Amino acid sequence: MIKLDINQLNSKYTQFDVGQVLADCHQLLGGKLAFASSLGLEDQVLTHFIARHCPEIRIFTLDTGRLFPETYDLIARTNARYKTNIEVFFPDAAAVEEMVKTGGVNLFYESIGNRKMCCTVRKTQPLDRALTGLNGWITGLRKDQSVTRTHMEVIEWDAMHGLYKINPLINWSAAQINDFIKAENIPVSPLHAKGFPSIGCQPCTRAISPDEDIRAGRWWWENPEQKECGLHKK
Ligand code: ADX
Ligand code: SF4
Repeated sequence: MIKLDINQLNSKYTQFDVGQVLADCHQLLGGKLAFASSLGLEDQVLTHFIARHCPEIRIFTLDTGRLFPETYDLIARTNARYKTNIEVFFPDAAAVEEMVKTGGVNLFYESIGNRKMCCTVRKTQPLDRALTGLNGWITGLRKDQSVTRTHMEVIEWDAMHGLYKINPLINWSAAQINDFIKAENIPVSPLHAKGFPSIGCQPCTRAISPDEDIRAGRWWWENPEQKECGLHKK
């Protein structure tokens, strides 16, 4: 594995160096770097930067099989706008069949254990496959999204997956993301305007009211400390 001086790199970049972070990391990691996009607001901003500054970076998405129809439309619209070909990774069919046979199609509402099992089968196992052979992956994480994300940095070592994790927008605010999307006319899901700031799988995401936390609509029946699907566990 290539060795990066994370502290030195993190002290070098300001939050406006997104294009530079992407291009530098692509080069430093020998081109073995890919972006995991959920087609969320931050992810669309990153796709825009990748298209402009480093189009060699591959973009992939994890299709859990339970996404909103609007998300599939957005994959197509994004590919058309940026001339990209977002790679789609699916869960293992036999693993989904077995899980649904024993737990039922909507097993996630029944217990946290069931919910985590579904996220493992539908998201984290496909992610492991998508990350195979890479030296780093890029995410759209931001610090102020959640209590579980406040200590994250632009460049981190992801011990769970054994590669670098690059979070170029980690220090951006929600307002900065929205302003940038407007200024650049970036395609986004129509659900955002209907009360969905954070979008995951359809059965596990609900609309929120303006006074609620931006991730309140994700796994809304669980505590904030538990609301990670396992993609970003420490
Ligand atoms: S989650 O862990 O709660 O689902 P969230 O929706 O906040 O994550 O997204 C955080 C980052 O995780 C995204 O910016 C993206 O990099 C990655 N991510 C989340 N879901 C997916 C997905 N379905 N496919 C690819 N990447 C994803
Ligand atoms: Fe399953 Fe819900 Fe996790 Fe999607 S978010 S993988 S439907 S538990």
